[in-house]
Amino acid sequence: MDILISPSILASDFSDLGNEAVRMEKAGADWLHIDVMDGHFVPNITLGPPIVKALRKRTNLYFDVHLMISHPHKYVEEFAKAGADIITFHTECDSNIDETIDLIHSFGCKAGLAIKPGTPAKDVFRYLEKIEMVLVMTVEPGFGGQSFMADTCPKLTEIYNECKAKNLSIHLQVDGGISEKTVAVAAAAGANCFVAGSAVFGSPDPEEAIKVIRTIAEDSFLLDF
Ligand code: DX5
Ligand code: ZN
Repeated sequence: MDILISPSILASDFSDLGNEAVRMEKAGADWLHIDVMDGHFVPNITLGPPIVKALRKRTNLYFDVHLMISHPHKYVEEFAKAGADIITFHTECDSNIDETIDLIHSFGCKAGLAIKPGTPAKDVFRYLEKIEMVLVMTVEPGFGGQSFMADTCPKLTEIYNECKAKNLSIHLQVDGGISEKTVAVAAAAGANCFVAGSAVFGSPDPEEAIKVIRTIAEDSFLLDF
């Protein structure tokens, strides 16, 4: 499984989003993580489809859209048409999960399912055959710059093992507090896709930050298995 680094645009300069996306592309990011918050599923409000559409004109980066919204089913079409490549939504949302996955696929996008720190791994098990990624949140969703919760990592291993038992190869993403200090624990537990906001955008040298996080992830991936 490839190691993928997905810088979170939430930590960028919002007055200069287009250039910030280009900056990440040049710095060697694999994906661009776009955090969508509705002020209802989480207390914060960020951005919507028009901004994704505008960014699409500026970069060829793979758009990793993380929907922290109560009714993802209602907005899938708009995000897909705006240029999302993978759309991830939460099991804790109010939409029907199977229908939302099917809708995402119907627009040619990949589908991901996210779980908050308090949600058990088994909640995603019955969907594993039909999704391309599971996102295990390593902070409570809503804000960037929070501390990594290492106690969420056993869930990565549970999901990794379940995928292995079912002979499935899907991405396992972690999001929240990922940096060169925390990435090893998540990679050792089975994560291959790393969202990093403050650790990359906040670095004086994002290219180096991505490189270091990638190298540590590669060296630590499934180390304990
Ligand atoms: C939190 C968001 C994250 C956040 C990560 O709700 O989903 O993507 O931007 O930011 P850092 O890496 O700063 O914790
Ligand atoms: Zn996110």
